[in-house]
Amino acid sequence: MTYIAHKNNRLMIEGVDIANLAATIPTPFYIYSSATMRARFQSLKAAVNHPRVKIFFAVKANSNIAVLSVLGKEGANMDIVSSGEMKRALAAGIPGSRMVFSGVGKTDDEIAFALQNDIYQINAESLPELDAINRVAVRLNVKAPIALRVNPDVDAKTHAKISTGKDENKFGISWDHVEEAVRKVASLPNLTFMGLSAHIGSQITNTQPFVNSAARMEEMVARLRGAGHTIQRISLGGGLGIPYRGETIPLADFGKLVHAFAEKMQCDVELEPGRFLVGEAGVLITKVIYVKKTNSKQFLIVDGAMNDLIRPTLYEAYHPIGKVIEADTKATPQTYDIVGPICETGDFLAQDRPLAPCQEGDLIAIFMAGAYGATMSSMYNSRSLIGEVLVNGNQTAIIRKPLTIEQQLLWETIPTF
Ligand SMILES: Cc1ncc(COP(=O)(O)O)c(C=O)c1O
Repeated sequence: MTYIAHKNNRLMIEGVDIANLAATIPTPFYIYSSATMRARFQSLKAAVNHPRVKIFFAVKANSNIAVLSVLGKEGANMDIVSSGEMKRALAAGIPGSRMVFSGVGKTDDEIAFALQNDIYQINAESLPELDAINRVAVRLNVKAPIALRVNPDVDAKTHAKISTGKDENKFGISWDHVEEAVRKVASLPNLTFMGLSAHIGSQITNTQPFVNSAARMEEMVARLRGAGHTIQRISLGGGLGIPYRGETIPLADFGKLVHAFAEKMQCDVELEPGRFLVGEAGVLITKVIYVKKTNSKQFLIVDGAMNDLIRPTLYEAYHPIGKVIEADTKATPQTYDIVGPICETGDFLAQDRPLAPCQEGDLIAIFMAGAYGATMSSMYNSRSLIGEVLVNGNQTAIIRKPLTIEQQLLWETIPTF
């Protein structure tokens, strides 16, 4: 079931006509289908189908509190990487006891905030971090539940900038140091060792890297259990991809793998999906300002830009695009670069795309923009942070108003010297 599709040549998100909506609110804006997010969560849960598997949504993919609330009510727990994300998840009604805290650079203040809010698990990523967590836990007179994020040295075969599980990446404790780290956890009085976690990368579209990572984890768990340590939880991280280019996503095989892993490991198994749960649910709606022709290219200069969606220029990411209203015409498609108004050559949303002929004022939809879209946006070129809209059936809600230049100016001062 797809909740985002053209009907009678008009883009509909669930029961909402996007052209009609765009006539009432400023473009560009992000819009999300709550039914799609719920469906993705349920499909993952069903594919895994194991009572000991817990799903933690990676908040970094989309941290709007309305989105967190939709997923939280559906049963998702949260994977956070900062106290800012924790505050968002708390604001969305999800308690710390349903959150895991990942990240390579947690500060004492962030650790304290997490412990004071009853964090379910801290995924520690280095030996010095263990000292920090213990120090803070002693001060607060609590025990900190620790999983060690290990680096399984597995190639996720994805884009270099979203590959995290190779030894050369900054993430996790290197394979050779894991046993030493476990001994260290056991020796520190205010830490409780819960298990291991690994996350090898993002936008993974075949199961082999997950198979490899699970095998590495199994090997380490056997070694640790053999040395007398108790392993209660293992996280296999996130990383399951979405079909930006029509790829087949091996959800069923992934589910079977996780199910079998939970059976074999006889402990809780955690997943931290981000993109898979929200990526396909979001669309960036933008409007053509000018159509510009040069000797070699045709540009659609639109009001959305790299500050709103940085993935194309940062990761060479491909997002499907379409016109919000598909003209009922036999006109030959044109090839366009869809670019923003920002003063950077890298400011593009799509390149060399065939599209029915466009003109000023046309609305363009950038699909599969629900993950790492709004969360990675900036105010570069003193642009606003754009609005976000949530759809539920026929209903829409503005879940973030645009953050305007006037509001930015309130945060700045000119000193008197
Ligand atoms: C530790 C950790 N878990 C989960 C995720 C989510 O990844 P994805 O959105 O690909 O599922 C990330 C992404 O960077 C991560 O670093």
